[in-house]
Amino acid sequence: MAENVVKLQSSPAASPMPSHAHKDLLRIVIVGHVDHGKSTLVGRLVYDTDSLPEGKFESIKAMSERRGMPFEWAFLMDAMQAERDQGITIDTAQIWLKTKGRDTVIIDAPGHKEFLKNMVTGASQADAALLVIDAEEGVREQSRRHGYLLHLLGIRQVAVVVNKMDLVNHSQDRFHTVEQEIRKYLGSIGVTPQLVIPVSARNGDNMGVRSANMPWYTGPTVVEALEHFSPTASHGDLPLRFPVQDVYKFDERRIIAGRIESGRLSVGDTLIFSPSNKSAKIKTIENWSPDDKKALPMTAQAGQSVGITLDEQIFVERGDIASHVAHAPIETEVFRARVFWLGREPLKVGGAYKVKLGTMEAPVRVQAIERVIDTTDLNTVAAPQVERNQVAEIVLRARRMIALDEFQTHPRTGRFVIVDKYDIAGGGIISMEGYADQRELITQRSTNITRVEHAIPHAERWRRNGHKGGVIWMTGLSGACKSTLAVALEKRLFEKGYHTYILDGDNVRHGLNANLGFSPEDRAENIRRVGEVAALFAQAGVIVITSFISPYRSDRERARSAAGEHFHEIHVKADLATCEARDPKGLYKKARSGQILEFTGISAPYEAPEEPELTVDTAAQPADACVDTLIAYVERNFRI
Ligand code: ADX
Repeated sequence: MAENVVKLQSSPAASPMPSHAHKDLLRIVIVGHVDHGKSTLVGRLVYDTDSLPEGKFESIKAMSERRGMPFEWAFLMDAMQAERDQGITIDTAQIWLKTKGRDTVIIDAPGHKEFLKNMVTGASQADAALLVIDAEEGVREQSRRHGYLLHLLGIRQVAVVVNKMDLVNHSQDRFHTVEQEIRKYLGSIGVTPQLVIPVSARNGDNMGVRSANMPWYTGPTVVEALEHFSPTASHGDLPLRFPVQDVYKFDERRIIAGRIESGRLSVGDTLIFSPSNKSAKIKTIENWSPDDKKALPMTAQAGQSVGITLDEQIFVERGDIASHVAHAPIETEVFRARVFWLGREPLKVGGAYKVKLGTMEAPVRVQAIERVIDTTDLNTVAAPQVERNQVAEIVLRARRMIALDEFQTHPRTGRFVIVDKYDIAGGGIISMEGYADQRELITQRSTNITRVEHAIPHAERWRRNGHKGGVIWMTGLSGACKSTLAVALEKRLFEKGYHTYILDGDNVRHGLNANLGFSPEDRAENIRRVGEVAALFAQAGVIVITSFISPYRSDRERARSAAGEHFHEIHVKADLATCEARDPKGLYKKARSGQILEFTGISAPYEAPEEPELTVDTAAQPADACVDTLIAYVERNFRI
């Protein structure tokens, strides 16, 4: 029997699921303008798949007759809607269909003014989509937007339903015109519809059964199309992702509950919880019903809501993601996202929002808006902010390390929702392009180690040298003159009697970091090592001058915490155009012609410091003047 399941987006495990419905579940979203007959289509689908509760169809039919109204399929949806509108906020309503060999659930995005908002949250869970277009009206702006949204959310399995064919006399010509129009549009945004189906939802043509009115169409019906879709990349075969929903305390046991989003887990597996990076083994997988006499399960898989206990009492909380150690999620404070913005207020650089990623919530700030796309014409708009219904590529930064996945590899856990105050204001998918997974950088592998204390206090070293030790950390684009300034500064400080030494990117990469290239991960490791070495030099009493692009804020912050209060971040500032015009090593030219990939400022990010201790602008001032500024800064801060 069909059931309607109302569930809150943020609490997936709370949603009761039909018992038969965890294997091979297909989630579809139906998008299209309400006027294009979406409700009728859904009503008809429920009927044609025999998924209606017993007697429901008859009772609604009888009711419309009593009222003297012609029966409408949409009434079915209205009636079912009314039953589930119990005064709670519905982010997503689900309608179950019985299709051959598996269950299909329509994630319905109810109409009204919040249509688009709900579609974002609805579509964000879908394996496949039906895009409904009115045969008479053809492809409208709305259809373009819906199509683009499917692209944005990476829904690759799409069937287009050209509805209301009865209103165009079941014309093959008209169908072909609309088909071409929509194929062309979807093609331009990288979406290839698997099928384009001419239907009349109201009359049932090509819905459950082939239409006698359109003998020229020989493809699958809509119900067959649903059977033809496959649940995306079988979540069971992906690495384990088990976002923690809640931790319950029962007698002495602590049960960690949640829904397995992908992969499987078994008793005895070692799990790592991210971002805390604590590990423990699974002791038991619990049964939900207390009177269930069956033996406890030994294994569970994607789609199941389970509770587990661990062999050790480690601290686990809602929002953590459990995975196997070898295939853990990414850990980062910064990530790139494609978002569809629905907020009443525009999304702005610097704006503070909350992201919900599975069961995890984290405050974030918009670090950059890199591209804004107008969804009607898909033009890139040069805009400092993102307006309602616009799509944008943005960079988000959290205050702490969060665990996430890239959408490309993990469709389930690579999506998120943005909340502005209390409203869902957008949805998006994650890409780490240009950014490093920071997990390795923050993982300490050695155990049983104890620090050795020096017998010489800092102050003693400083007194002998006549100055404090510390780090002058220069960051800036290639060609910003970091090395020139560093060399001049070192020389003049040396002449003044300072103990000083330069660590330079191009030099260090010949030795200590010879094994590192320019991928985000390698740069991060480059800076991690240099940050640690610089901190050691500083502790030894030296004024160490570092000259590295060090393009990532997170990496520089780690270098800062290694050196503590003796770290001075100097932004060697010069705009990209100036650096490119200088191009001392001819690298910009190579980067522009594609000979060097991932070149900072061209094809890799540079995150300028927000609050450096000092900025020297080499585009505005001659090098000598900049060195004077630096000398004065050192004299002020390092003399004792
Ligand atoms: S960092 O990004 O990891 O901090 P680092 O300062 O060590 O870079 O090295 C930068 C130097 O490497 C540049 O001055 C340039 O000479 C050279 N280089 C070679 N390839 C690249 C690249 N893809 N991006 C930036 N610099 C590069």
